[in-house]
Amino acid sequence: MRKSTAVAHANLAFVKYWGKIDHALNLPANNSISMNLSNAKTTTSVQFDESLFGDEILIGSEGRPANPSFSSRVSNHLDRIRKEANVTLHAHVWTENSFATGVGIASSASGFAALTMAACHALELDLSEKELSILARKGSGSACRSIPSGFVEWFASEKSEESFARQIAKPDHWDILDITIAVSQSEKKMSSSAGHKLTTISPFFPTRLATLPERLNLIRRAILDRDFETFGQEVETEAISLHLIAMSSPHKDSDAWLSGVYYWMPDTLELLIATQDWRKDGLQVYFTLDAGPTVHLICPDSEKDQLLDAVSSLQSQRSERLWNVMVNRPAEGAYIMNQEEA
Ligand code: PMV
Repeated sequence: MRKSTAVAHANLAFVKYWGKIDHALNLPANNSISMNLSNAKTTTSVQFDESLFGDEILIGSEGRPANPSFSSRVSNHLDRIRKEANVTLHAHVWTENSFATGVGIASSASGFAALTMAACHALELDLSEKELSILARKGSGSACRSIPSGFVEWFASEKSEESFARQIAKPDHWDILDITIAVSQSEKKMSSSAGHKLTTISPFFPTRLATLPERLNLIRRAILDRDFETFGQEVETEAISLHLIAMSSPHKDSDAWLSGVYYWMPDTLELLIATQDWRKDGLQVYFTLDAGPTVHLICPDSEKDQLLDAVSSLQSQRSERLWNVMVNRPAEGAYIMNQEEA
């Protein structure tokens, strides 16, 4: 059978997916808005093979066998696609990220978007962008946002067939940048799946949900109007709202009672304060963060050099700061590579 190769980019959420109404189907509690990231991509090839007795999943250019938990997540997702195509064949899967783990960008969004696209193409399943987004969502929630191109909105719905992502604007609509600053290479304290489950414990979660419809309208409008100030203010407030929910969700860890989850490291907080100072000094920059210590600075392209200098001088203040800095632009959606390129 044919070998198909797909590419998909990771995405950065401006309105976050935080909390689910259905954990098995990855149905989100609210709509979210994101941008695909140009320098963070996964390339995945899939080939179904009747001689295989199980799926064979290899990682990286050296083809390292995947660990059992990742392999079983991939196989479960292939099962969904096999069911759709009505086949029982197992597959060879080769997957490689353009970015290292530890750079502060999760690879599950780009990974499951690329896997969905490559496996469907290999089985000659002719699905629409909406159908591919729904399928990718079942593998990893935010993966549905890596299917369409550019700036994207994912709709919340109680119905699985209505929860998919759609483009708001093309990648070249707006030349804003994400400067990703990974301040720590260690594993994050709590996975996003566990974090999603804790949201409903926070007494502030209903307030967060109540404020989101207006914020979604403002951010969507600001993207379309290229209104950086409104956009930045809403995006920064939104990121803090996610962390307020995490910090106010009591739970137990190793039998110890914890009042909430702190995803930040001391360097994270220094960068958040520095961003506010840089803004007071006249730079156009706002921050956002996901469920981890990595800081994302959002700025117009024109501010890039000044900001990179500012970040590098802050980093050099302490020799132990081994930050990983990466610049991302809005990027295209998932696509199939033709065989000559693959
Ligand atoms: O797709 P998941 O389960 O890894 O959840 C992602 C959650 C956040 O990154 C914190 C927010 C988002 O919308 O990407």
